[in-house]
Amino acid sequence: METRWTHTTVLLEEAVDALLADAARPSGTFVDATFGRGGHARRILARLAPEGRLIAFDKDAEAVAEAARIEDARFSIRHQGFAQLGELPPASVAGVLLDLGVSSPQLDNPARGFSFRFDGPLDMRMDTTRGESVAQWLATAEPQQIAEVIRDYGEERFAVQIAKAIAARRQERGPVSTTAELAELVAGAVKTREPGQNPATRTFQALRIFINAELEELQQALEASLTVLQPQGRLAVISFHSLEDRIVKQFIAAHSREVFDRRAPFAAPRAMKLRALARIKPSAAEVAANPRARSAILRVAARTEVQA
Ligand SMILES: C[S@@+](CC[C@H](N)C(=O)[O-])C[C@H]1O[C@@H](n2cnc3c(N)ncnc32)[C@H](O)[C@@H]1O
Repeated sequence: METRWTHTTVLLEEAVDALLADAARPSGTFVDATFGRGGHARRILARLAPEGRLIAFDKDAEAVAEAARIEDARFSIRHQGFAQLGELPPASVAGVLLDLGVSSPQLDNPARGFSFRFDGPLDMRMDTTRGESVAQWLATAEPQQIAEVIRDYGEERFAVQIAKAIAARRQERGPVSTTAELAELVAGAVKTREPGQNPATRTFQALRIFINAELEELQQALEASLTVLQPQGRLAVISFHSLEDRIVKQFIAAHSREVFDRRAPFAAPRAMKLRALARIKPSAAEVAANPRARSAILRVAARTEVQA
């Protein structure tokens, strides 16, 4: 029997209200850049006017297959990374939503290799149709490179020890190929445990971010949003950890002020492109009902009138 994995959407009403600028029946073109299982997308479609459009993106073929079940002429899905957002026509979009990270179906399916909670092949690619799996990368990467990834993307104090353990195991018994093998190696290398957290948490997060180029694609999508958003168009981004949130926060801040060119002190300042509107956290009730929501932060900004 086919298993239909489910995902509980985080900040559903808050994100959709922010994206649609509280309009009752908006008629523009909106982008859901992270379709997942379509929680946000279905709510957007329920609010959209008959002449509105929703363009969705997802890297994951299973998410795209789920999206194909939506029979609605206003809706389309692209099996693409959201870094491709800039292929849409300039100033054509009334709102872009990014709900970052992985979905529960990805995490909960052992075959995808995202979680140390289940044994499975060490893959972690969101798009399994291209690129290297984590196992393939770990089989040849230099220990120093492995340590840098685990330190920079996992903020893991024992990154060097973990990288050494991975390299030693490679020499002795061949490369790590399953999630359980990696979790066991990491547990042996991490000397102090953080309360309530599996010792492999930081390493798995780091490898996932790296193998999917998550932070680079986020930066590219944010840049592209400036081009595709029309004046007053909304940018709404939900992040789940500090590395992502820092990028979003700094991006909005950097484009929310006038920039003076110090070499040309009498020239007009470069105009601001965004106006920061809100920072929203899930309610206590939402976190109680869905613990995955606890680290979520939604940041909202509006494109200003001035086009670059
Ligand atoms: C947190 S889930 C989104 C859940 C969705 N909002 C819902 O309510 O069902 C994140 C989704 O974004 C996708 N994703 C992550 N990074 C992506 C990227 N760079 N380009 C396209 N899709 C991406 C993942 O494959 C996953 O399906």
